[in-house]
Amino acid sequence: MMRYLSIAMSKGRLTELSIELLENIGINCSELRNASRKLILTDEENKIRFFLVKPSDVPTYVDYGAADIGIVGKDTLLEERRDLYEVLNLGFGACKMVVAGPPDLQGKLDRLTNKRVATKYPRIAREYFEHRRRESIEVIKLNGSVELAPLVGLAEMIVDIVESGRTLRENGLVVLDTIADISARMVVNRVSMKMESERINRIIDGIRKQLDRGRVQP
Ligand code: PRP
Repeated sequence: MMRYLSIAMSKGRLTELSIELLENIGINCSELRNASRKLILTDEENKIRFFLVKPSDVPTYVDYGAADIGIVGKDTLLEERRDLYEVLNLGFGACKMVVAGPPDLQGKLDRLTNKRVATKYPRIAREYFEHRRRESIEVIKLNGSVELAPLVGLAEMIVDIVESGRTLRENGLVVLDTIADISARMVVNRVSMKMESERINRIIDGIRKQLDRGRVQP
C-alpha cells in the first residue's frame, strides 16, 4: 500500500496561493479548502495529507520528516536555518526583508553600534548587523506590529518584511537597507527526497511547468 506523502503548509498569507498551486497540478485540495478545525486534511486519491501550521513551524515538521514537503516563505527559512532541500522558488509572496527606521537614520547605518533593533526575525537581524556590518546591536524580539517599536522608543530601528510599503509609509518610517529578496519556497526533507524521489519529483516537475507557463505570459 502506498504511504501518504505529507505536505506542511503555512497558515496565513501564503495559504490561498499554495492551494491554487497544488490544485493546478491536479492535487485535490477540497478538504483543505473547507478546513474545519481538523489538523490533517487529505487527498485520498493521490494519497497526500496536508498539515496547516504556523509558518515558523513548517521547517520543523519537514526537518524531522513528519512532513515530506513544506511550502514556506524564504524569511522563515532564513530565520529557522534548518537543513532542508530548497527545491523551488514559487514566486508568490514576494516581498523584501529590510532594515527600516525614521528618515533621520538614512545613511547612518554604520554608526549605529549599541542601538536596539526590534524584529520578528532575531537571527536575521543579528546576522546582518554583526556579520555583514560588524556593528554590535541589541535585538528585541517582537511577535507582530514591529513598526510600532521605533515610534514609541522601544527600539531605534526594525528588521521586517515590506510588501507594498504601506505600513512603513503610514507610520513615517523608511527603508534604510535591503537585506534579502523573499518569496514562497518549496522545501523537501533530505531522507524523503531519496525514499520518495519519484512522487516528489513528479510534484516538483508539475509545479515547475506551471511556473514556466506563468513566466511566458505577457
Ligand atoms: C507584515 C510585515 C509588515 C507588513 C508589511 O506584517 O511584518 O508589518 O506586513 O506589509 P506592507 O509593506 O504591504 O504594509 P503582518 O501583516 O503579517 O502582521 P504582523 O505585523 O502582526 O506580523
